[in-house]
Order: sequence, then structure tokens, then C-alpha cells
Amino acid sequence: MYYDNRPLMNEGTPAQPSGSPGEFLWGFWYPALRSNQLRGGQLNSAARLEVPLVLGRDAGGRPFALRDICPHRAFPLSFGRFDGTSVECAYHGWQFDAHTGQCTHVPSLTADSKLKCERIYAGSFPCQERDGYLWVFLANPEGRPPAASQAIPPAPELPTFSPGYKIAHLGANLPCSVDHGIIGLMDPAHGPFVHQAWWWRSRRSIRDKAKQFEPIPGGFRMSPHAPSANSAPYKILKLITGEPASTTIDFVLPNQRFEQIRAGKYWLSSRTTVTPIRRDLCRLDFVAAWNILPWFPIVSFIIHVLGPRFIRQDTEVIKKQSLGLQHEERMMLVDDADRQARWYFELKAAYLESQRTGQPMRHPVTGPITLRWRS
Ligand code: FES
Ligand SMILES: [Fe+2]
Repeated sequence: MYYDNRPLMNEGTPAQPSGSPGEFLWGFWYPALRSNQLRGGQLNSAARLEVPLVLGRDAGGRPFALRDICPHRAFPLSFGRFDGTSVECAYHGWQFDAHTGQCTHVPSLTADSKLKCERIYAGSFPCQERDGYLWVFLANPEGRPPAASQAIPPAPELPTFSPGYKIAHLGANLPCSVDHGIIGLMDPAHGPFVHQAWWWRSRRSIRDKAKQFEPIPGGFRMSPHAPSANSAPYKILKLITGEPASTTIDFVLPNQRFEQIRAGKYWLSSRTTVTPIRRDLCRLDFVAAWNILPWFPIVSFIIHVLGPRFIRQDTEVIKKQSLGLQHEERMMLVDDADRQARWYFELKAAYLESQRTGQPMRHPVTGPITLRWRS
């Protein structure tokens, strides 16, 4: 029996993540907006990892991301004006280079002023566009330049396997901490209860599962396997392609879940990210690309009609869970059904530890392993 005095996470040595629960991971790319939300001449605001951002596109179409705080008196820069090069604060008219954040003009200064306004900076963040998103590299909350030793990798890219394909994007806000958002994403045991549908699965379809996992850099992979026999979409896929399908699912820090389905020359590749907006609110972004029967909209139907329904079911469950989490933050991670969640916390702790010590990250998943559960 478990009552309130149970350990934070049961089973063996507690995998208490270092740092506070829901702690943010700095030093990664995060999607901040959809590319099509950025119009020239317009300033957009968004928050990621509790960093207020002002985002826009310069006159040449190149995106930029500044901390949405004027260094003079903290006025949000997103209320100001943008002329295609500089962002002007709406309070006292200070101007900042949109890409570097460097102050270029302080209107109140007299000609003989000693103030070197070029030494003043608004925080700024590297940004890149990929797969229809504007990605922002968050090295630190202030928007200081990343340390010289910190090489910035290219922004993440959705893997695709042939030149012609369709692409679709979905999104939702999840009222929970990033940790609950992510462990919900990789949790195999809620499917039959939360995602019940005649064409997918029900509690009567629960059966034994055994899946092979292996470590990959910064995460772990559910090795290529035949998709669940109890799911109709995969049966349809096999019917239309005539080839056996195989699925590979990766989780990679800080927040990315990739799923690839391949059947002969056909493929579907998707990525889901859960990015903290605040401690108690996250953004879920889902993108999928596929080349399966582009002239017959079966995949498009699955993504555009069934996808939002799936996401709604997860959002509803997380809303209800947040009612309980107000009273109890501790959780239990039991057996193999929760092993991936445990690995997530261990990966996160290992990353934070390597940030602290400067040592290479120690991978918590040491070799191939088979996990067994019922779902
Ligand atoms: S607060 Fe921005 S110019 Fe004064
Ligand atoms: Fe789900």
C-alpha cells in the first residue's frame, strides 16, 4: 500500500531529478512561433521558458528574436515600432538593432553627452526557421550571447526520406509543467483509457507488449518494430502500400519525440515537442510529413481530423490531472510502463549535472533493453 509517506518515485533508488521539478533546460533550440505568424514589419510576442520574446522579420525576410524587455525601464519592446532594421521602444524611443539587440539611438541625449549608447544591449537570441517554425536558441534567460565555448548546433530538422511530400502542423497549449507534458507524451499505458476509439483501441484490446530500446545521443530509441497489430491505421497502411510497415520512435532532450513509419518506398515522419511557456503551461507542437498516396487524402484525413482529436484527449486529461497536482506533486513511476518517464528524468539530471561540472553527459541508458508492459 502506498500512502503519503511513499518515496517521490517508487522502485529502487529514487530518480529524483536534480534541481526543482519542471526545471528548464538551457542550451537548446525551442520552437517559438509558426513561420507563417511572422509578417514583415510586425512585432510578435511569445514566451518560452518564461523568457518574454519579441519576434519579427527584417526588411530582407530574416527572422530575429529579442528579449521583450527594454534595458532602460523594462518596457516590453513588442509595444514599440519596427522599421525593418531597428526596434523602437514606445516609452522613450530608444532604438535597438533587431538582430544584435545593440542600442543605436537614445533620443534624449544631447550632442555633448558622454553616454556610449552602443554599449547598451537588449537581450537577443539566435533564431532559425525550419519545418515551418521559428526556432530560438535559449542559452540563458537574459539573452546574453552564448559562451564562446558553446557551439550552437543547427536547429532541429524533421527527417524526410524523399523529395516530394506533404506536411501538416498541429498545436495546443497544455496546462502543466514540462515534465508532465513530456512523460504524458511517452507514456504507453494511457492509450486504451484516454484514446479509446473503435478504430484504434479500447480497454478490451489491452495486450502484452515487448519493445526493444537502445540509447541514442541525448535520448533513447524504441528500435524499428512492426506497429501494434491492434491499431486500424497501421492495418490501412499495410493495405494501401502492400508492404509490411515498421515504426521507430525516438525521444531526444530537451523535448522532442520523433516517430517514423516506413513501408517500402512510403514513409511518414513526425515530431512532437513540448516547450515550456511558464512553469505551469506548455506548448505542444506537432509536425508531420509524408509521401503516402499524396493524391488520396487518407493520411491528410488522419492527421487533420484524427490528430486534433488525439491532442484534445491528451489536453483534457492534463487539465483534469492539474486539479490533483495542486494538492500532490509527488508521483510514482512503476515498472516498465513508466521506464521511459524514468529515463527522461535521468537524462535531464545527467544533462544538468554535465552543465554544472563541464564533464561529458553520462547516459543513463547503458545498452539495448527490452521493456514489457500491457497496453
Ligand atoms: S523604457 Fe524603453 S526607452 Fe525607456
Ligand atoms: Fe496521449
